[in-house]
Amino acid sequence: MNNRERIDQLKKEKTLSKNDLHKLLTTADDADREYLFAVAREVREAVYGKAVYVRGLIEFTNICRNDCYYCGIRKSNQKAERYRLTKEQILACAGDGYELGFRTFVLQGGEDPYYTRERLADIVRSIKENYPDCAITLSVGERDREDYVCWREAGADRYLLRHETAEEDHYRRLHPSAMSLARRKECLYTLRELGYQVGAGFMVGSPGQTVDNLIADLHFLQDLRPHMIGIGPFLAHQDTPFGSEPDGSYEMTLLLLGILRLMFPGVLLPATTALGTIAPDGREKGLLAGANVLMPNLSPVAVRKKYELYDNKICTGEESAQCRDCLARRVESVGYEIVTDRGDSRVEVLRETD
Ligand code: 5AD
Ligand code: FES
Repeated sequence: MNNRERIDQLKKEKTLSKNDLHKLLTTADDADREYLFAVAREVREAVYGKAVYVRGLIEFTNICRNDCYYCGIRKSNQKAERYRLTKEQILACAGDGYELGFRTFVLQGGEDPYYTRERLADIVRSIKENYPDCAITLSVGERDREDYVCWREAGADRYLLRHETAEEDHYRRLHPSAMSLARRKECLYTLRELGYQVGAGFMVGSPGQTVDNLIADLHFLQDLRPHMIGIGPFLAHQDTPFGSEPDGSYEMTLLLLGILRLMFPGVLLPATTALGTIAPDGREKGLLAGANVLMPNLSPVAVRKKYELYDNKICTGEESAQCRDCLARRVESVGYEIVTDRGDSRVEVLRETD
C-alpha cells in the first residue's frame, strides 16, 4: 500500500494497522500531505460544513500542585508570578465574552486546591444562572469522582483533560512519580461515564516521544472516543527541566490533525494556541488540515502573560475583542466562518447513523 491508499483506507475504515500508521507518519511527502489535508477537509465539511466553533478560554488560576516537567506553571517554577481570579472577575470575563458573542466558556486552571468542590460548583452555577444558553467546559485536572459529579450537577457540560501520552514509560519521562497515567485515564473514563462531553489529547514532539508513542495515543483515543481532541506541538519553557529541549514539529502536528479528522469524523478538533505560537499561520493551517475549533483567550490582559505554559505564547497582549476580530479575519482568510452557538460535538449523532 502507498500513502494515498493508506489515506483512502483511513477515510473508509476510520482505522489503520499499526504498521500502516507508522509508514504514514514517517514517510508522507508533500504530495501525500496535501492529499491527506484535502480528504480531511472533505470529511470535516461533510460533518460540520464551513463552521468553525469558538470557545472563550478563561485562565482563572495559574497555581498548580503538580510538577509536570514540561509545564511553565509547575509548582517548582519559582519564577512564575502566581494569580487567582475571584468569582467576580471570572463572571466579568464570561460577561465580556457573552457580549462578544461567545456561547461557550472554558474555565481552565492549574490544579489549585483553593477551588474546592463547592467553590467551583458555585462559580459554575452562577455562570449558568447568568447565561443559561451557554455551555460550560471545565479544565482543572485530576479530581475526585465526587467533585466531577458535583460540577456536572452544577451545570458543567464538558471537561478537557489531555491524557498527554498513553504509554507508561513515556508518561514517566514527562511527569514526577507522584502522578500516574492509570489515574489520568481513570479520570477520563469517569468523566465520560458522568455524561460530560470529554476532551483528551496530547503534545506532539514532547521529549522522548516516539512514533510508536503517537500510535499508542491514537489507539487510546479510539478506545476512549472523546468528543474533543486537543493536540499541539510541545514548546519549551525556559524555567522548566525541559527548557533546552527542542520544540515539537509543526509538520507532524498538522499531519496528526489530518489523521485525527479521518479517524474521528465528528470530533471537535481545535487549532490550538501552541500551533499558532510555533508558526504565525499555524492555526489557519490547522483549520486547513481538518481542525474546526478555536479557543481565543478571554482572560484579563493583566494576567495573560502569567499563564505561560511555554515560551512566547501568543495573544498575551491583546484584549478579548481584539482576539475575536483577529480570529474572525484568520478564519475568513481560509474560507471558513465562525459560528457562535454552543458548538456541540456531532460524535453521538454520527455514531447512531453509522
Ligand atoms: N508546550 C506545549 N503544550 C503544553 N502544555 C503544557 N505545557 C506545554 C508546553 N510546554 C499543554 C498540555 C496541557 C495543556 C493545557 O497545555 O498538554 O494539557
Ligand atoms: Fe488573539 Fe489573534 S487570536 S490576537
